[in-house]
Amino acid sequence: MNKEKKTILVTGGAGFIGSNFVTYFLRKYPSYEVVTIDKLTYAGSLENLTEAREFENHHFIQGDIADEKFVKKIFSTYDIHGIIHFAAESHVDKSIDNARPFIMTNVLGTVNLLEAARHDWDEKGELTDRRFHHISTDEVYGSLPETGKFTESTPYDPRNPYSASKASANLLVNSYQNTYGMNTVISSSSNNYGPRQHEEKLIPTIIRKALEKSAIPIYGDGKNVRDWLYVGDHCRALDMVFHYGKRGESYNIGGGNEQTNIDLATIICDHLDERLSTNVNTGSCRDLITFVKDRPGHDLRYAVDDTKIRQSLGWYPEKKFEDGLRETVDWYVKKWQPLAR
Ligand SMILES: NC(=O)c1ccc[n+]([C@@H]2O[C@H](COP(=O)([O-])OP(=O)(O)OC[C@H]3O[C@@H](n4cnc5c(N)ncnc54)[C@H](O)[C@@H]3O)[C@@H](O)[C@H]2O)c1
Repeated sequence: MNKEKKTILVTGGAGFIGSNFVTYFLRKYPSYEVVTIDKLTYAGSLENLTEAREFENHHFIQGDIADEKFVKKIFSTYDIHGIIHFAAESHVDKSIDNARPFIMTNVLGTVNLLEAARHDWDEKGELTDRRFHHISTDEVYGSLPETGKFTESTPYDPRNPYSASKASANLLVNSYQNTYGMNTVISSSSNNYGPRQHEEKLIPTIIRKALEKSAIPIYGDGKNVRDWLYVGDHCRALDMVFHYGKRGESYNIGGGNEQTNIDLATIICDHLDERLSTNVNTGSCRDLITFVKDRPGHDLRYAVDDTKIRQSLGWYPEKKFEDGLRETVDWYVKKWQPLAR
């Protein structure tokens, strides 16, 4: 896609990955107009867009993608050349409590965007040119045993309501490519870490609990494995997929960095001990780690084979886990405990 004088629509841009992406994109491409829409659910915050909102070519509109009228209005107000669709209910535990909001946002919201884009771009004779980039997750592939990795051709096997709603959205996106010839692309990443993640997620939870000196909850025996990807590396990958990904294709994006939850918690505790000069005198943060009842249907292991994006687009993760995690811990410590600096 020509990067000059285009307007892109970013959904869910006030969330964790969306806000990192919007900020990255505005810094990199001054010529794009960026329209960010976000419902500002409990997971989204304008604080995440503090830097982005200083750019004159950035426009923020609060609204719900499950509201068809709102989505249509965006397309009648702006000439949207491409969409990067992050907006989602994203917390697995919440989907286990109540799947309904996940269906409304992740499935219906995606259909509303596909429909609005289809009609608008068709009227402009650009249906097959303008890009619809759907942000997905490796969780759509299900769970792995101790070996093996998900490739782009691994059949979907979502195993909780969150991943089922994301897999449904993927299928819808693919169907719009097949049925209407829309220029869609899907990227499925592994677990992200970095600044601005909501405190409900694993890494911020470990840090927050440690700062509060309260029990750090780890599900089950802590042996579940996730492949951690630095959010900045993810943003670079999305930039490449959005601009150069092949239409109708799907790209896996991984961190190449598998950790069990218990190992992750231990490493974070060690960083915190060092950062806060705890341990010998006050006890190590490690002492706070507490195993709790496992999440129902907890997937054992996720790991993605991202050979395709590495070979076809030349992307690879640049951030060393050690450095990324240390910076991330520092970011949350500064946010939550300014006096601990
Ligand atoms: N965080 C991860 O590790 C990870 C990994 C792989 C894929 N993903 C995917 O990346 C995307 C972003 O994830 P995240 O971690 O940044 O999530 P997040 O929960 O931090 O942010 C989601 C954002 O979407 C907004 N939103 C929710 N419902 C909306 C609605 N109906 N209308 C408009 N906005 C709405 C929220 O207000 C929030 O700002 C999601 O699609 C998620 O499935 C996340």
